[in-house]
Amino acid sequence: MTRPFRTAIIGFGKIGAGYADDLVMAPYYPFATHAQVLAVHPAFAWGAAVDPSPEARALARGRWRVAHAVPNVSELLRVYEPEVAVLATPPDTRLALVEQMPHLRAVLVEKPLGSTLTEADAFLACCKARGILVQVNLWRRADETFRGLAAGGLNDLIGPPQAIFGVYGNGLINNGTHMLDFVRMLLGEAVAAQAMPGARATLAGPIPGDVDVPFMIRLSAGPMAALQPVRFAHYRENSLDIWGERGRLTMMQEGLSVTSFPQRPNRAMQGEREVASDQPQPLPSTVGRAFYRMYDNLAAALESGCSLWSPGESALQTARLIQAIVDSISQPCQK
Ligand SMILES: NC(=O)c1ccc[n+]([C@@H]2O[C@H](COP(=O)([O-])OP(=O)(O)OC[C@H]3O[C@@H](n4cnc5c(N)ncnc54)[C@H](O)[C@@H]3O)[C@@H](O)[C@H]2O)c1
Repeated sequence: MTRPFRTAIIGFGKIGAGYADDLVMAPYYPFATHAQVLAVHPAFAWGAAVDPSPEARALARGRWRVAHAVPNVSELLRVYEPEVAVLATPPDTRLALVEQMPHLRAVLVEKPLGSTLTEADAFLACCKARGILVQVNLWRRADETFRGLAAGGLNDLIGPPQAIFGVYGNGLINNGTHMLDFVRMLLGEAVAAQAMPGARATLAGPIPGDVDVPFMIRLSAGPMAALQPVRFAHYRENSLDIWGERGRLTMMQEGLSVTSFPQRPNRAMQGEREVASDQPQPLPSTVGRAFYRMYDNLAAALESGCSLWSPGESALQTARLIQAIVDSISQPCQK
C-alpha cells in the first residue's frame, strides 16, 4: 500500500454510523456500519462526513473524531478533497453528489443502486464516463462463507440446484434487491424475473412507493427461484433455501445461520433417498466481517486493478430484474 485513500462518508445516518450503537447487533456484527470500518481500516484515511443533520455531524465530530463534519458537498470541497466517497444517502441523491466531486477515484455506494432502473442507469453512466470505480454494498458478495459457496462450495455440498425458495420483507427494491442479487451470486445469472401472476403488491419499506410482492426468477441454468415477502412487523427475515441434487442448503436469519443437509437413504421407502433435514450440518457464519471485506476488495481494486466483488454493472443487472418484477405486477398496490 502506497498511502491510505482520502475518504468521506456522505450520509451519516443508520448505515453510515447509527447501527454501531445497536447493542443487539454488536456481538454478531462488529462491522455493521461504514464508520466502524473506516475508523480502523488501514487502506482508508477517513477525513470527512457530510450530512445536513446537525445531530449527525455532532456524532461524527464527537464520537468518531472526524476532522471535517459538514452539511453539504460544497462545504466539503472547501476543506477536503476525497478520492473515495462512501455514498450512504437515499438513492435519489447520489448522482448529484458524484457530479459535484471532481477528484473521485471510487465510490462505495449503498444498495439499491437507484430507486428506479433509470436512476441506477444514470448514476452508473456518470461514474463510467469519469472512470470512477463503483463498488455496491450488496454485502453478501463480500461475505467469506458465501463467497466460498459461490466459488464451488455449494455444488460440492448439495450438487446442482433443482428448486430455490426464499423470503424477504420491507420492500422489493429495498431487501428484494439483496435477495435477488444473492441468488445471482450463488447460482449464476438470472434470465428472467416477474411478479407471481395475480399476486397483490403491498406498500412496504423505507423507499417511497416500494412494495412487497411474491416473485419468481428463472436462472440461465434452468431452475426457478420463488421468493415471498413476510411482514417485518411479525419478525425480520431475508433467507434462501436451496434444494440441490445431493442435498439442501439454507441461509436463514439474514445469513447468521448457514446449514447444509446431506442426502441419505430414505426411511419411508426402500431403495429411495431423502434429504436429512433433521440432521443439520452448520457452516460458519461470517456476516459480521462482510462490510470490512467489501472495503478490503475496494482497496485491492484501487491498488492493483483486481476485480471488484460487487461492481456497478452487476448491481445494474439486479436493478433490471427488479424493474422487470415491478413492471409485471398485475394487482394494484394495497396499504
Ligand atoms: N447494505 C445494507 O445492508 C444496508 C442497510 C441499511 C441501509 N442501506 C441503504 O443505505 C441507504 C441509507 O439508508 P439509512 O438506513 O442509513 O438511511 P438514513 O435515513 O438513516 O440515513 C441517510 C442519511 O443521509 C443524509 N442525507 C440525505 N441527503 C443527503 C445529501 N444530499 N447529502 C448528504 N447527506 C444526505 C440524511 O440526513 C441521513 O442522515 C439506503 O439506500 C439504504 O437502502 C443498506
